[in-house]
Amino acid sequence: MKSSIAIFSLLSLAGSFVEAVPAPQGGPISGIDTSPKAYIKNGTVTGRYSPEWNQDFFLGVPYAKPPTGDRRFRPPQFITEKQHIQAKQTGNWCYGYRGDQWEYPQSEDCLTLNIVRPSGVNYNIKKLPVAVFIHGGGFLIGSAHDQRYNMTFLVKQSVDEGHPIIGIGINYRLGGLGWIASRQVAGTQNLNLGLKDQRVALHWIQENIRAFGGDPNKVTLFGASAGALSIGLHQLAYNGRNDGLFHQVMLLSGAPTFFGTPGFPETGQARYDYIITQTGCLDATDSLECLRHVPIETLNAAINSTSGQYTAPTIDGNFITGLPSEGLKRGRFVKVPTVMAGTTDEGAGYARMLTKYDTEAQLRTWLQATTLFKPNMLDTLLSHYDSSTSIPDAANFTPPYPNDQGTINHGLQYHRMAAILGDLWFIAGKRNYAQKLASFGVPVWSVRSRVVPNGYADWSGSVHTTDVNFIFNNLEAPGYDIGGTGVRVVQNPMDIGGPKEAEFKQLADFASKSFVRFFAKGDPAHGRAPGEVHWVKYKHGGASKANQIVWDIGPGGVYIEQDNFRQAGIQHIIDHFLQGSF
Ligand SMILES: *[C@@H]1O[C@H](CO)[C@@H](O)[C@H](O)[C@H]1NC(C)=O
Ligand SMILES: *[C@@H]1O[C@H](CO)[C@@H](O)[C@H](O)[C@H]1NC(C)=O
Ligand SMILES: *[C@@H]1O[C@H](CO)[C@@H](O)[C@H](O)[C@H]1NC(C)=O
Repeated sequence: MKSSIAIFSLLSLAGSFVEAVPAPQGGPISGIDTSPKAYIKNGTVTGRYSPEWNQDFFLGVPYAKPPTGDRRFRPPQFITEKQHIQAKQTGNWCYGYRGDQWEYPQSEDCLTLNIVRPSGVNYNIKKLPVAVFIHGGGFLIGSAHDQRYNMTFLVKQSVDEGHPIIGIGINYRLGGLGWIASRQVAGTQNLNLGLKDQRVALHWIQENIRAFGGDPNKVTLFGASAGALSIGLHQLAYNGRNDGLFHQVMLLSGAPTFFGTPGFPETGQARYDYIITQTGCLDATDSLECLRHVPIETLNAAINSTSGQYTAPTIDGNFITGLPSEGLKRGRFVKVPTVMAGTTDEGAGYARMLTKYDTEAQLRTWLQATTLFKPNMLDTLLSHYDSSTSIPDAANFTPPYPNDQGTINHGLQYHRMAAILGDLWFIAGKRNYAQKLASFGVPVWSVRSRVVPNGYADWSGSVHTTDVNFIFNNLEAPGYDIGGTGVRVVQNPMDIGGPKEAEFKQLADFASKSFVRFFAKGDPAHGRAPGEVHWVKYKHGGASKANQIVWDIGPGGVYIEQDNFRQAGIQHIIDHFLQGSF
């Protein structure tokens, strides 16, 4: 045994041994186990060869010890025992707290990642760039296993482009299990567990990805929504300390400055008190310790009944040292080449979740109640969004306002509210981050996606994260049709078999190609075909330098614009609300 351990450690030092890479053609030979296998630091991972895609899948690979029993509500722990992992199926999702999660097998034991790589590459010689996806879902739902984030198509695109990459998706703890916060938890290491999960996964990748043929010095993080916010927080983590865990980032519909109440441990107090009451831990001397011994079904049910509340990352004085806006201002963050992306109508999906609002007074009451605006600030904000402000653009829907279905369903203020919410929650954060990065001399590219996938009404527009399936080149869109309640879940978003299929495919091809070029070559415009729209860098020095690429289908297609729409309102948000906010 001793000698085999010695051989394993030698191999992991060499860092490049990959066994049984299937032949490019022909597939597995019967009778011989040709499953792809990787020799990691402390054991083996056996995956599955997909002849259909000529790819190796390593699915549900644990990157930390299960956060169960005594490890519940504690930072993730590295695996120190030798392991022989069968990684042929994805396994469980982390417990999540909204409709679309409950369709899938869930467990507390969920700290795994999925690795997808091209087969038939000689990994002894070649080390591939690595793209790591951090899913969104408001820190309440989502999983790397979600087929909407299926890496197969992006990896295939990378091979077709001649820039093969390895794709990874990571799971992390959600809701109360990942983001427990209260007075009792303050001062311990047990805040921001979901972020710490992600970080340990990134350490695991540094330690082990060579064994899969990946280059640990060429890691790009990309994530959508809460995943993008997470990436920003990794850049700011530990006062901007660079742990060498990533080398490029791509933030889709999210940024580290998020307009919301700053999260402090006490912000979660009411929820925490409710959970300990429901689980019989109210009178325990150490309530958190008591919660570690509650059966997961009981605990999960208690957390689940608080799920309507947003669970946010928390300023813990360590991982998150202070307000992200402060860290940004001082330049205390890891500065690496960045792509920022977002959709035009980010706020429309949220505006329609509100009660129907017909008057400005109703709108004002809602904003007053749910934000920290001082009344005079609110007046100025509303003045920047006069009553003709419309998201989506009023020209885009028929019949016209006020007879469009959006207004009929959600009130006369719907389109105005959609503009305000989109800017407040996403678009101002994106513009602010792009400007900040550019001012520090960081290479940054920006995208605005205005494409409306099939299945979304013209009055709802290109809502939050509708660019994701284009980026993943996910044409058949497995995972979009699960019958959940999320606004992003639609049937057949790429109109496969319909009249717009070809145009959607063309845009998905362009989007995924650009990102593969970014992952592999650090530039989304690298090696573009003649006549292809040139991605331009987003530069510091005023709106005329702040250029971004716009994505759409149809006659407008793809073009370059200055990032200066709704300038007055967005600048007001940046100046007065993103500073001092989370
Ligand atoms: C490998 O496992 C041994 C115990 O079997 C442990 O002592 C060691 O720390 C582990 N190494 C790593 C890198 O996890
Ligand atoms: C991605 O989806 C395709 C089509 O459904 C499927 O064949 C493939 O196995 C999936 N890949 C992964 C990694 O799940
Ligand atoms: C979570 O709550 C919803 C209702 O809000 C319910 O339908 C679902 O079954 C609950 N799930 C669990 C695991 O308690």
